[in-house]
Amino acid sequence: MFETFSKAPQDKIFALMAEIAADDRPGKIDLGIGVYKDDEGNTPIMSAVKKAEERILKSAKTKSYIGVAGNKAFSKAMVGLALDDAVPADRVRAAQAPGGTGALWVLMQLLKRGNPDATLWVSDPTWPNHKPMAENVGFTVKTYPYFDPETGKVRFEEMLKTLDGLGTNDIVLLHGCCHNPTGANLTPEQWDQVIASLQKTGAFPFIDLAYQGFGDGLEADSYGVRAVGGVLPEVAIATSCSKNFGLYRERVGCAMVIARDVAQADTANSQMLNIIRSAYSQPPDHGAEIVRIILEDEELKAEWKAELEAMRTRMVENRQKLADAIRTRSNSSDFDFVAEHRGMFSLLGLPKPVIDRLKTENAVYMLDDSRINIAGLGDERIQRLADAIVNATR
Ligand SMILES: Cc1ncc(COP(=O)(O)O)c(C=O)c1O
Repeated sequence: MFETFSKAPQDKIFALMAEIAADDRPGKIDLGIGVYKDDEGNTPIMSAVKKAEERILKSAKTKSYIGVAGNKAFSKAMVGLALDDAVPADRVRAAQAPGGTGALWVLMQLLKRGNPDATLWVSDPTWPNHKPMAENVGFTVKTYPYFDPETGKVRFEEMLKTLDGLGTNDIVLLHGCCHNPTGANLTPEQWDQVIASLQKTGAFPFIDLAYQGFGDGLEADSYGVRAVGGVLPEVAIATSCSKNFGLYRERVGCAMVIARDVAQADTANSQMLNIIRSAYSQPPDHGAEIVRIILEDEELKAEWKAELEAMRTRMVENRQKLADAIRTRSNSSDFDFVAEHRGMFSLLGLPKPVIDRLKTENAVYMLDDSRINIAGLGDERIQRLADAIVNATR
């Protein structure tokens, strides 16, 4: 059996992590993996999360099965967080999933059942797991233009032109906010144009909302998902609590569907549960219960929101500091776009030789598409990084 295999490719993020760990130069700068880090390079547990865990420890009475849909009160709270009252609740169904990745997978399986011949369109570039996952599910995957590395902005006209050419056999995967890897995002006006295009063509909207609260704030970051849900008859939405609750290893996410009417919402939900049952039977509860407790408790919710807001503003400040530091050294506005981007990442648009030079000469590590994680930078590292980038690109 196993002799038939050749070695599968290693995920490039995990390969980079191994490389960084093996580098013992002091002061190395890790801009790689997609987790939030404070100035000391730690990924702390949020205090609202700690408090919710203490409550679970004190009051939980059972570890019995939670059921195929998972923690239903969690899912209800997550629908509220993403959609508020933009969509009538009786058209929305949701199932807890193991992380945003799990939610994406459940929804891809569902959409494949709904339209086996559909083509799934992802942005160029996109999160490296979208394409392999969609291909594993059996979709033909194509890309729509998204990012212009020359300007650091969205190539919106080209994107729209491609979307305008789609039809009912197409599914369009959109990043709800904080685009990964680029950091360049649609404005509310651009979202409205995308919605008008989808309305015209009948292409199916599929939204990946993995960073709500990391960009312009919890409300602003949900503009796209609420606008799409408010106008279009059918939508699939995958959300994650990995980043905004810092629950990476607990694997907490939610798969949501918006259907045309109550009857179709119920059948879509039954299919979603059927997919989950035959895959992993039911999701893990601990992280979802933490989120439920926080979102249902006014005091804890306020504490969580304040912690999230502090993380968000720190990332925005880091962006400005890095853009300023590069500008003062290079006397050019070439990297000003970093301050305009939102979320944890920016794609710098650096060529491979420059990325390699930064690694060998400065122990600066970024992914080979030049994506950097802005969250892990303290003040001193921002200055050193600016020095290194300006030297390497001169
Ligand atoms: C765009 C995007 N979608 C989904 C995910 C999945 O997150 P998780 O499965 O860790 O919740 C990530 C994680 O990095 C992401 O960047």
